[in-house]
Amino acid sequence: METQLRALQQEALDALEQAADSASLEAFRITYLGRKGGRLTAILRQLGSAAPEERPRLGQLANEIKADLERRFDERKQVIGGDTGASGQQIDLSLPGRYLPFGSLHPITQVMEEICAIFEGLGFAVAEGPDVEADYYNFEALNIPQHHPARDMHDTFYVTDSILLRTHTSPMQARIMEKQDPPLRYISPGKVYRCDSDITHTPMFHQVEGFLVDRDVSFADLKGVLTSFSQRMFSSDLALRFRPSFFPFTEPSAEVDIACVICSGKGCRVCKQTGWLEILGSGLIDPAVLTQVGYDPDIYSGFAFGMGVERIAMLKYGIDDIRLYYENDLRFLSQF
Ligand code: FA5
Ligand code: MG
Repeated sequence: METQLRALQQEALDALEQAADSASLEAFRITYLGRKGGRLTAILRQLGSAAPEERPRLGQLANEIKADLERRFDERKQVIGGDTGASGQQIDLSLPGRYLPFGSLHPITQVMEEICAIFEGLGFAVAEGPDVEADYYNFEALNIPQHHPARDMHDTFYVTDSILLRTHTSPMQARIMEKQDPPLRYISPGKVYRCDSDITHTPMFHQVEGFLVDRDVSFADLKGVLTSFSQRMFSSDLALRFRPSFFPFTEPSAEVDIACVICSGKGCRVCKQTGWLEILGSGLIDPAVLTQVGYDPDIYSGFAFGMGVERIAMLKYGIDDIRLYYENDLRFLSQF
């Protein structure tokens, strides 16, 4: 009888494994575990004819097998699922799901978040401003009056005579400084617009503005912060150079170039054969700007910089045409 029980157990296990839907699972239950005609029940009925001293052991074995089969049956039922969908069709929960296409952040968004995280680590707070800006904040407050030749450097999209699409993120310097007193340490990421397009220029691009105002801020502080940024963003051995420049709202001013990673400084179409790519403009905030927001330039000084996010992303990923970022070709975008 023990042999009979063991054989039945094996047979039942095989049958259970074969059961692939709830109909065959139910057939399994009736055949093996059914109270009336079930085969296990049938063997148990014969227990009376076994030798009396054998009965307890055989009874226990039969009950163990029964409990085991019932447990496995329940597990299998969970996997297959006895339910039917709204269509009345059988749902096989054991099938793998259908994968939906998975979106991801645009590479420019990723780089912008990375830049912000680095400056936040250096103690800068983040503030965002409007894309549609008053002429006053974009130019006037930054020491660029009407008819100043520096307006020519920005090919501006005007909305009305006094409203425009901001050409840089620098208006946020004036907006924040006129509301708060030093010490200040802010970065401001966002979109900016210029009527400009080639392999290193797009009409809409992103900048991250940064500025710090306090007592005794010097150009050395600016160099320290930007060098530390570049080491974290790229690597500690990437060459960085400060090139004298001019901005009406900073004095002295410098543009910062990074060794072109596309050609490793040998010269290519991206760096216009110079081996360097400009990533930002910077300088010590001009006393005229500090005075305009009501700060005393004899007490306070500060530095500011504005970096091009697309340029940094090009260098970081070795992309040789800025326009690729905006063609929305998923074969390109999904690589990041
Ligand atoms: C400015 O916009 C200044 N506001 C930067 C600044 C801020 C100077 C604070 C001093 C103090 P510039 O026009 O050079 O400067 O632009 C800054 C950076 O934006 C450039 O170095 C470049 O990386 C990027 N950039 C400029 N024009 C474009 C464009 N059309 N497409 C993509 N990136 C651009
Ligand atoms: Mg420039």
